[in-house]
Amino acid sequence: MQPIISVSNLTKTYASGFKALNGINLDIQRGEIFALLGPNGAGKTTLISIICGIANLSAGKVEVGGHDINADYRVARSLIGLVPQELHTDAFESVWATVSFSRGLFGKPKNPAHIEKVLKDLSLWDKKDNKIITLSGGMKRRVMIAKALSHEPQILFLDEPTAGVDVELRKGMWEVVRQLRENGVTVILTTHYIEEAEEMADRIGVINKGEIILVEEKAKLMQKLGRKQLKLHLQGRLDTLPATLAPYHLELTEDGKELIYTYDTQSERTGITTLLSDLRDADIRFKDLSTTQSSLEEIFVNLVRTGA
Ligand SMILES: Nc1ncnc2c1ncn2[C@@H]1O[C@H](COP(=O)(O)OP(=O)(O)O)[C@@H](O)[C@H]1O
Ligand SMILES: [Mg+2]
Repeated sequence: MQPIISVSNLTKTYASGFKALNGINLDIQRGEIFALLGPNGAGKTTLISIICGIANLSAGKVEVGGHDINADYRVARSLIGLVPQELHTDAFESVWATVSFSRGLFGKPKNPAHIEKVLKDLSLWDKKDNKIITLSGGMKRRVMIAKALSHEPQILFLDEPTAGVDVELRKGMWEVVRQLRENGVTVILTTHYIEEAEEMADRIGVINKGEIILVEEKAKLMQKLGRKQLKLHLQGRLDTLPATLAPYHLELTEDGKELIYTYDTQSERTGITTLLSDLRDADIRFKDLSTTQSSLEEIFVNLVRTGA
């Protein structure tokens, strides 16, 4: 199927001469939730701004729904809803007025039934006559989403939707995003919270220093890079490891009390059985053992570190 967004060889050099994006290639599939994960300054907002036509690209090509964002700006832009990183709303407008007004900006005819549905979906219906200034932070964010959805876009960009938001609100936001996808909206969110990408995304792209260093289905990413560690808590203290254990590349903790074995959950043989019998042969005894699965967090930290 044709991707709903196609970015090819995209480069962005700011007027200062700073190259914020360098040869970005990225396809977004219709109906997916795509998380663009990267540390502060990686280029997430820059990339979104270019796709949404707020910033100009320096080189490359971007198509939205098959429309070139430069040659066919209006059509491309009409397919997109954007919730920017910096929230600003007209404090003294009512929720209903501000969301309806946003729709008008896209030259769409009035459609109160659609605005009503959006407000209801976002649990804002009973606040429709309230002035924005009277709303809580979480509600204001939902108003921003309602504004972005007012013109019935097929694609919604959420730039750091939960930055600085408390845990409860964050979960509420995730629920809203899932609901949107069920309604057929393609969602692209940026985040520097690994947990958020892990929780939400169908696919994850990792961006660092203006380059996409990895794009993968979340499940595959977790599998492919997911390694497990077996930790053996020793009965005694060990100074050195016998040569017979060299093939396992064990790590001995500084205090000599723990042995750590890292293995691939995907491989046919983890090597645990032979490790345990080799340990017995070497007369190394342990009183307890535990395993830990590496999280996307560690994967991410490793990627960004090696990519640096
Ligand atoms: N208008 C600008 N002029 C010059 N540099 C900019 C401008 N906007 C952003 N940058 C720089 O581009 C890089 C990427 O910024 P940004 O896209 O905002 O990153 P992110 O959203 O991933 O935190 C940063 O180093 C930032 O300082
Ligand atoms: Mg940003």
